[in-house]
Amino acid sequence: MNLELSETQTLIRDTARKFAREKIAPRARALEREERFPTELFKELAEVGLLGVNIPARYGGAEAGVVAYALAMMEIAAADASTSVAMSVTNMCAELIHAFGTEAQREKFVTRLTSGEAVVGSFALSEPHAGSDPGALSTSAVRKGDKWVLNGSKQWITSGAYAGVMVVWARTSPAGNKGLSCFIVEGGTQGLIIGRHEDKMGLRSSNTVSLTFEDCEIPEDQLLGKEGEGFKLAMVALDGGRIGIASQACGVARAALEASVRYTKDRKAFNQPVADFQAPRFMMADMKVQLSAAELLTLRAAHMKEQGRPFTREASMAKLYASEMANRVCDKAVQLHGGYGYIDEFPVERYFRDARVQTIYEGTSEVQRMVIAREIFKLFS
Ligand code: CAA
Repeated sequence: MNLELSETQTLIRDTARKFAREKIAPRARALEREERFPTELFKELAEVGLLGVNIPARYGGAEAGVVAYALAMMEIAAADASTSVAMSVTNMCAELIHAFGTEAQREKFVTRLTSGEAVVGSFALSEPHAGSDPGALSTSAVRKGDKWVLNGSKQWITSGAYAGVMVVWARTSPAGNKGLSCFIVEGGTQGLIIGRHEDKMGLRSSNTVSLTFEDCEIPEDQLLGKEGEGFKLAMVALDGGRIGIASQACGVARAALEASVRYTKDRKAFNQPVADFQAPRFMMADMKVQLSAAELLTLRAAHMKEQGRPFTREASMAKLYASEMANRVCDKAVQLHGGYGYIDEFPVERYFRDARVQTIYEGTSEVQRMVIAREIFKLFS
């Protein structure tokens, strides 16, 4: 792995950094207070290529690769984790449709995602009683003439109320994992009912809803991939998605560390800046080491995916380590701010709350450990 960034990777990172600093960071606090999903930002993110970083230019993407995508996610997340999760899921949906879709599906749906016309994408896998075990999901899809009819409910759907393009998993036969299929559903389709907005601990300007499908009819050509192949599609998408969440965790942790450096240089105690005491300096040294380790794991997973090599284990390792690291780093950042870390005048309390979900969504830390352990044992079988 070349540790020097290419010209394209540097360009994407710098573009994302400029966008994040100028357009997102100044509004992040207000957006979260208002719990407002920033629809307008996504058109602009699309214009700078960030809704399809790893998608070929002919479908409106930036064609910049997975490492560039991870770098861009880190930058956007450092400004606002809420915006970054919607960006991550949109890229994930675009990549999934690009990888498994027909040419017609790519032209219609991938371009809608990369251009921002769809606003964002949604990934509808989890259900009220099937989160870590998607093989147990019960939403059904039944063929009726030239249509599929969907019935059932989905839970924890990121951007669900705003997504113009969704990928939705449903059961087409009772055969466990092998009975799942994946469908593309357009926002606004009759029979797709958007549930209430969840009142979350963090990511408060990200939209999280439940979905209900009530005799929701979609054209038969919106089956994505083959019938019965849905579980595999979900796993492939989640492998890539985990690089996105690992990158998000790195971005939030970096923001927390930078805020801590600024604050401790400025804040005085016992007649000297807090940053001059050894205890906070050591704390920040440890934060930096852990952050760098997470960044390297994340970029390595991204590099392996970009090279077309197996990266399931690496993506899970990056996601596991980076999300747990972000929680530790944000906790220390609050501590370093003392009482000011506990109020919303400083951003670290938001980082702390935003980081919490990272060990839960796109596969809990426990699921990542299952995946990593299975991959280790495969080597010895
Ligand atoms: N790539 C390709 N295929 C894969 C795969 C991968 N990474 N992982 C598994 N498969 C295949 C297996 O090879 C196997 O195929 P065969 O049947 O042909 O042999 C099949 O899938 C079943 O595999 P497993 O037996 O390993 O499946 P399992 O039921 O034991 O589940 C699991 C494994 C890793 C726990 C999986 O269920 C999982 O990842 N769960 C977590 C789900 C998750 O992450 N949900 C997040 C929701 S989305 C979200 O949060 C998005 C958001 O909005 C932010």
